[in-house]
Amino acid sequence: MPSTRAPAPAAVQDEHAQTTPAAATDEVVVLDFGGQYSQLIARRVRECGVFSELLPHDVALEEVLSRRPCGVILSGGPASVYEPGAPPLRRELLELDVPVLGICYGMQLLARELGGRVEGAEVGEFGRSQLTVRQTGRLLARTPPEQTCWMSHRDTVFEAPPGFDALGSSTASPVAAFESAERGLYGIQFHPEVVHTPYGQQVLTNFLEDICGCERSWSPASVIEEQIERIRAQVGDGRAICGLSGGVDSSVAALLVHRAIGDRLTCVFVDHGLMRKNEGAQVIGAFRDHFHVPLVAVAASERFLGRLEGVTDPEEKRKRIGAEFIRVFEEEAAKLDDVKFLVQGTLYSDVIESGGGTGAATIKSHHNVGGLPEDLEFELVEPLRALFKDEVRAVGAELGLPEKLVWRQPFPGPGLAIRIVGGEATRERLEILREADAILQDEIRRAGLYRELWQSFCVLPDIRTVGVQGDARTYGNVIVIRAVTSDDAMTADWARLPYDLLEQIASRMINEIRPVGRVALDITSKPPGTIEWE
Ligand code: XMP
Repeated sequence: MPSTRAPAPAAVQDEHAQTTPAAATDEVVVLDFGGQYSQLIARRVRECGVFSELLPHDVALEEVLSRRPCGVILSGGPASVYEPGAPPLRRELLELDVPVLGICYGMQLLARELGGRVEGAEVGEFGRSQLTVRQTGRLLARTPPEQTCWMSHRDTVFEAPPGFDALGSSTASPVAAFESAERGLYGIQFHPEVVHTPYGQQVLTNFLEDICGCERSWSPASVIEEQIERIRAQVGDGRAICGLSGGVDSSVAALLVHRAIGDRLTCVFVDHGLMRKNEGAQVIGAFRDHFHVPLVAVAASERFLGRLEGVTDPEEKRKRIGAEFIRVFEEEAAKLDDVKFLVQGTLYSDVIESGGGTGAATIKSHHNVGGLPEDLEFELVEPLRALFKDEVRAVGAELGLPEKLVWRQPFPGPGLAIRIVGGEATRERLEILREADAILQDEIRRAGLYRELWQSFCVLPDIRTVGVQGDARTYGNVIVIRAVTSDDAMTADWARLPYDLLEQIASRMINEIRPVGRVALDITSKPPGTIEWE
């Protein structure tokens, strides 16, 4: 069924103008029923060149309509469709006159609502499974009769609703895919969005292109021009300020705004003395020297180290650094005349986490150390609100941001201070940690592993251990190497760095940094550990 797009009520459209990147771009809405892969569905759709947003399953119908979607996807979720209180399927969604694809729980909802049979199965189906396709229909076109897919369910569709074609089955799912092309309704039990379903992207492409008739015209880079227009419209001939942390989010946001309003943007970079080696110079070099962005670089390490004197408690460190950051930022803002706008690198994942795309102006608290206070009287400019992290990187690369900044691993706002564990962040300790970190980064980059790791860093616990160097006994510091892989920092696995690389790192640290006497490796995943040590 080709999509005939529903008209958008004008009032609602305006409310969401900030999140949606381009009114002219085709969009598919993903309704989130709580599945662990819901965000991933939206990302995969975007990878197909179609803009997609994740909305709560109970979002007002007008919100869905305001996007004028070409299609709707119902995500998976942890509930059982037949349990009291399970998130229901609203019948009106099926009457929008756009194709609907239910995935896992979403498929079970469709099945139950339309007269199919869904029941709890004796055995669940978790992980890899084998899908046997009896007829491809429209949804499984261009995929083979036998294929691997990824499943994660206990409830199972035993019978497709009347009038639907059952397209295939798997080991534990008698009906693993169904469709009614006539009604524009489709369902799959497996997860097309995960990499373990090799034909998943093909299935999504079939849905988006053949079924919804979407134009594949969206790309992260395509938002640049559109965002620049939007920023100009918002800021007019006003002035804006941006706290630059060196992280990719604030960097890309600042560059976009600079493109839009030129020197009416001033960036403030606070060097709190807790940065990694050469980090401040890199940020200043890129923004001031290369992009010619008006930049106030505040060398404030004395102030920060003064505030950290005698402090060993991690939360107290965070609090003091956060408070000092705000003080410095406010002082600098006060020196600039007439600034009405504050640029923030809020990402789409932040928008989702803070309750969905309702345009709420939450001040982001992550990279600028504890966040800026809410009574700062600025209007927010958030040009990245529609983008996922990897898309922000693509935009950054497109804007010419140096590779080191585009691919920078996340770095906590309180910086190295929270990596000096159980002890005070003194200048001497910071120096040891900074040198060790520089060696680690250098070797990880040389081994070509930097981008594969979510984070790699060093920790300096407040302990000494004995050793022997030359003929003398030593009593030196311990450096702990922490390297993890992760998608979102919610969970993480310790990275299996090659032994030879670890040896090279350890021997360089001990040979090149005199106070270091021992190097250890952290092999704890998250959970049960956290990524940082304090
Ligand atoms: P954990 O240690 O909780 O870290 O597993 C998850 C992610 O958050 C970062 N992190 C921080 N970022 N201020 C920040 O801006 C902080 O106080 C802070 N503590 C942890 C951490 O680096 C990881 O990416």
